[in-house]
Amino acid sequence: MGKRRIWLDERKKDYYYKKAKEENLRSRAVFKLIQLNKKFHVIKKGNSVLDLGCAPGGWLKAIKDIVGEKGIVLGVDLQPIAPIPQVKFVLGDITDENTLNEIKVYNSSFDVITSDCSPNVSGNWEVDHARQIYLAEKSLEICHQLLAEGGNFIVKVFQGELFEDFIDKMKKMFEKVIISKPDASRKRSSEIYVVGRHYDSKYT
Ligand SMILES: C[S@@+](CC[C@H](N)C(=O)[O-])C[C@H]1O[C@@H](n2cnc3c(N)ncnc32)[C@H](O)[C@@H]1O
Repeated sequence: MGKRRIWLDERKKDYYYKKAKEENLRSRAVFKLIQLNKKFHVIKKGNSVLDLGCAPGGWLKAIKDIVGEKGIVLGVDLQPIAPIPQVKFVLGDITDENTLNEIKVYNSSFDVITSDCSPNVSGNWEVDHARQIYLAEKSLEICHQLLAEGGNFIVKVFQGELFEDFIDKMKKMFEKVIISKPDASRKRSSEIYVVGRHYDSKYT
């Protein structure tokens, strides 16, 4: 059986994939965010939230449900998304300064920044790990510019040799750093989520 066929078969059996389909959700990834937020209460009603690497918009919808009417939600991705009511979207590359300037037109200080960015995977593990860590580090840099004092950050990271270094960087910026693998994240996937609580610009 070819690799794609195996992947498609596994996906069909996947509990969260089925659940996402049944509930007409944009992605199975949404369950990871919901589980993380249930555990760590990072996003609250009324918050302003920036979601990096947001397509197709599963997290964005869930975030909007949490923050409610008065909350502000803005997503960024290289890929366009179908519009979500009361959610702003910027089409762009998070590594490009112009994208940050576009975000700032809407809002320049967020209570929470989330990042579920993944590169196009090449199949070469070391390359994919390095590319993904690069996106996680760029997301961390964006916190310096756009996260409010005391704000929170959730970021996906592919584990590997650059992981510890990334965690050390986070520890320099947040009062508390928690590493967590939500149940909805596939066991054999190397992805893990890191939560940074209480951003303090003096730490850096
Ligand atoms: C796993 S998906 C995110 C799924 C999303 N959290 C959801 O629930 O629908 C990862 C996204 O990261 C985006 N991405 C990768 N590199 C990016 C970059 N440099 N700038 C913006 N988005 C990027 C990809 O286009 C992709 O849509």
